[in-house]
Amino acid sequence: VTTPTIRVPNASDIPGLASLRVKYAEEQKDVSAAGDKDFQRRFDAWYNATAAVSCWRIAELDQTLVGVVHMFKHLRMPIPNYDPGGWGYVSLLYVQPEYRGNGLGARLLQAIEQEASSLGFSKVLLNPTEKATPLYHRCGYRPADSHLVHKLAPTTRPATGTAAR
Ligand SMILES: CC(C)(COP(=O)(O)OP(=O)(O)OC[C@H]1O[C@@H](n2cnc3c(N)ncnc32)[C@H](O)[C@@H]1OP(=O)(O)O)[C@@H](O)C(=O)NCCC(=O)NCCS
Repeated sequence: VTTPTIRVPNASDIPGLASLRVKYAEEQKDVSAAGDKDFQRRFDAWYNATAAVSCWRIAELDQTLVGVVHMFKHLRMPIPNYDPGGWGYVSLLYVQPEYRGNGLGARLLQAIEQEASSLGFSKVLLNPTEKATPLYHRCGYRPADSHLVHKLAPTTRPATGTAAR
């Protein structure tokens, strides 16, 4: 059995990243990509707009993308004579259904955590689904005791990403 390779994506992988994002959304959010002709353009724009604060890893097997993880770099504001470091925020972890249950999700998570450590980050945060919580727990994640969240009232957001009214 061949093991997927984990690597940093390059520009030619962007359409593949977008299609994994679509699969994630169709499974997780029960939305369909059908009819969203603008999605690839919006994905490309987001990829470029966040490039400076994005870390990616992909899992590849026989030139097929089978998994992805994305982490935002929360770079803390400088403090004189002190390195404030930063945090990571995992915004996407996805493995294609037929490759699940073999530790690939955990490997992707560990790969992005290594990047966070090498950047000097002090922690990695994420917002888990219930199903994925045992995986995160196994990988060392615990409920936060040092963060507050204020859930804002929902605003009307058009699905196509045009300016919010
Ligand atoms: C979460 C996910 C990346 C794990 O990938 P994986 O390669 O199976 O990961 P591992 O083999 O390392 O770990 C398996 C663990 O994933 C979790 N899991 C299993 N099925 C899952 C599912 N459909 N969705 C989310 N998590 C799942 C379980 O905790 C499982 O642990 P167990 O084997 O002890 O029961 C993959 O299931 C997935 O892409 N799910 C859909 C997207 C998602 O839920 N992403 C995380 C959102 S916070």
